[in-house]
Amino acid sequence: MFEDLKGKRVLVTGASSGIGANIAELLGSYGASVGVHYRSNKKGALEVIDKITKKGGKAKLFMGDLLQISAAIKLLESFVNTSGGIDVLVNNAGEIYGEVNFLELDEKSWDDTFTLNAKAPFFLAREAFRIMKEQGGGKIINISSVSAKYGGSLKTMHYGAAKSALDSITIGLARAGAEYNILVNSVRGGFINTPLHKKLGRSEKDIKDRIRKIPLKRAGEPEDIARMILFLASKAGDYITGEIFTVAGGD
Ligand SMILES: NC(=O)c1ccc[n+]([C@@H]2O[C@H](COP(=O)([O-])OP(=O)(O)OC[C@H]3O[C@@H](n4cnc5c(N)ncnc54)[C@H](OP(=O)(O)O)[C@@H]3O)[C@@H](O)[C@H]2O)c1
Repeated sequence: MFEDLKGKRVLVTGASSGIGANIAELLGSYGASVGVHYRSNKKGALEVIDKITKKGGKAKLFMGDLLQISAAIKLLESFVNTSGGIDVLVNNAGEIYGEVNFLELDEKSWDDTFTLNAKAPFFLAREAFRIMKEQGGGKIINISSVSAKYGGSLKTMHYGAAKSALDSITIGLARAGAEYNILVNSVRGGFINTPLHKKLGRSEKDIKDRIRKIPLKRAGEPEDIARMILFLASKAGDYITGEIFTVAGGD
């Protein structure tokens, strides 16, 4: 079912850890030629490359701080220059800056959260769109969050707003891309078991309380999201565009 991914040129941003690492590994295991992007965790990115190549797949390392839009544009350019084009862009890199009550939120945390989760994905997608238009098509998949559905928590309102902006970009780009066979979708993750939560300093109790609210009563695993990306990136997703999917255990 996913054999058509063989040789497809796929760039996954934030592939050094968590969800992005799993997406890169899974698509790589089906023969995609994967661009593994990281910002600071080179070790993690190299481990992903190692896993892909050990399974006989192809993967290359890319670095860039996506808080800089010039770096986002350069990343896309260097992927295209080394791969000869781009078939699938997975806008996965994301983070929450300033997880504090919204009454205490500072402007920089708002700006950085929006830059990483909405602005950089837009400019990466814009550059990919130009190439995909020339090529006769392609796919862009944006990793969003259920926080867009709920407006975030009291501490992640700005993150929810940024992911809502990303979902809006998905819808706009999908309409613009349809005539060029450029398909654009969002996948909203629920609570997924990745290093993100520890990095944010969330306590075990907070994590347990959050999981209790999930109808399926467990955290999602990165693979749960990666399988959805596999579906959309492959031929299985060839008649799907402008959609926002939720993979969140019923959340
Ligand atoms: N975990 C969840 O519960 C959850 C739920 C819904 C949606 N999501 C979304 O899923 C995506 C992946 O999150 P995750 O949970 O897998 O987190 P993660 O394990 O912390 O991974 C985040 C990735 O983003 C990269 N990144 C962070 N800041 C960056 C920057 N300034 N420039 C470039 N890359 C940057 C990191 O690169 P380095 O480590 O190399 O710096 C890393 O590869 C994010 O968009 C997140 O919003 C997560």
